Amino acid sequence: MTDVEIKKGLAGVTVDYTAVSKVNPETNSLLYRGYPVQELAATQSFEAVALLLWNGELPTAEELREFEEYERSHRELDPAVRTTIDLLPLDAHPMDVLRTAVSIVGASAADVEDNSPAADLAKAKLLFAKIPAMVAYDQRRRRGEDPVEPRADLEYARNFLWMTFGDEADEVVVRAFAVSLVLYAEHSFNASTFTARVITSTTADLYSAVVGAIGALKGALHGGANEAVMHILDEIGSAENVGPWLDTALAEKRKIMGFGHRVYKKGDSRVPTMKAALDTLVEHYGADDLAALYDALEAEFVGRKGIYPNLDYPSGPAYHLIGFDTPTFTPLFVAARVTGWTAHIIEQAASNALIRPLSTYNGPDERHIDGYVATAADREAAERDAEAR
Ligand code: COA
Repeated sequence: MTDVEIKKGLAGVTVDYTAVSKVNPETNSLLYRGYPVQELAATQSFEAVALLLWNGELPTAEELREFEEYERSHRELDPAVRTTIDLLPLDAHPMDVLRTAVSIVGASAADVEDNSPAADLAKAKLLFAKIPAMVAYDQRRRRGEDPVEPRADLEYARNFLWMTFGDEADEVVVRAFAVSLVLYAEHSFNASTFTARVITSTTADLYSAVVGAIGALKGALHGGANEAVMHILDEIGSAENVGPWLDTALAEKRKIMGFGHRVYKKGDSRVPTMKAALDTLVEHYGADDLAALYDALEAEFVGRKGIYPNLDYPSGPAYHLIGFDTPTFTPLFVAARVTGWTAHIIEQAASNALIRPLSTYNGPDERHIDGYVATAADREAAERDAEAR
């Protein structure tokens, strides 16, 4: 083995430039195209933030109106997608269902091989419009409920809730949900975005890159953490149980989901905004017990380990209070992050280099199949190898 320094998990490695977002762990800030995410969450719709991520600038009123019109007229679930979802088992994980559904859209698209910026932007907008119906349809089918058709008079977040629950959500709920989507939309070179960029770097199409990114997001160390947080809160049960539960969990060296981050070590810049949104839901639903449990686990874990909550910690319980089934939480993250992924896909394609790192081999020394007679070509290769060493 050589003494090349291995950067496990690419930790601390800078692999490219990006103009999409800036994560600054020193100042605990996150900028989308230069704008602090908190300001965007407070003032902009999710649709406007999507356009900002794709185009680099916030939309004019006319640009936003045009995009809203497009999005509202492309929400229906395609028959092929519906039929395919219906073929999947009812206990299939919603992330697997969504990954399959997006793949169907890609396999059926006429423009799939066109990787021009204009075609990719069009595909990004199509997926943006289609994903909510896929997520809502799947949650309803698992509950044995009939699908609810989209309503073109409702904006994205409100219609998403409408298609999922079949009634008009209260303003406070729509607001909290929209804030979560803005906060989840983009986060530089996280694992799923990097996956999307790797796939794009081979010149494969945008749909393939998004399908791969969904796979990467599913894991509990990444997007799957918002689902895992809810499992942990369910397991603990109440604020009084936090201390003993944590004693056991830490003794067993379990990871406490929703805490810690590869980049942020002093707290996640998005948490205060999402926690404020969660507080409004707690008040709306009268969920004081859940809030007490949330606060107790945070205080106890931060106190003991100095590891802070990430965005999945407040968003998990927020999605629970809104009424989403726990396994549906990560698909909601997909609906949001598809904006960031596709902005990165377009950026990667615009200044592409195949992403292909090196590795240091630590397997068995060279060996041979018994009875194999070396050819002249084999002998030449062995000589070249010896010279190179
Ligand atoms: N619970 C318990 N211990 C944790 C922890 C957590 N959530 N997060 C980090 N740690 C500990 C590790 O066990 C490790 O301890 P050690 O040095 O004694 O072995 C140390 O802190 C460093 O953690 P490490 O996993 O090496 O850091 P990382 O930068 O690779 O990890 C995460 C980042 C996100 C993978 C990690 O914090 C984690 O698994 N969190 C839980 C899952 C989660 O919420 N993911 C969503 C991220 S947005």
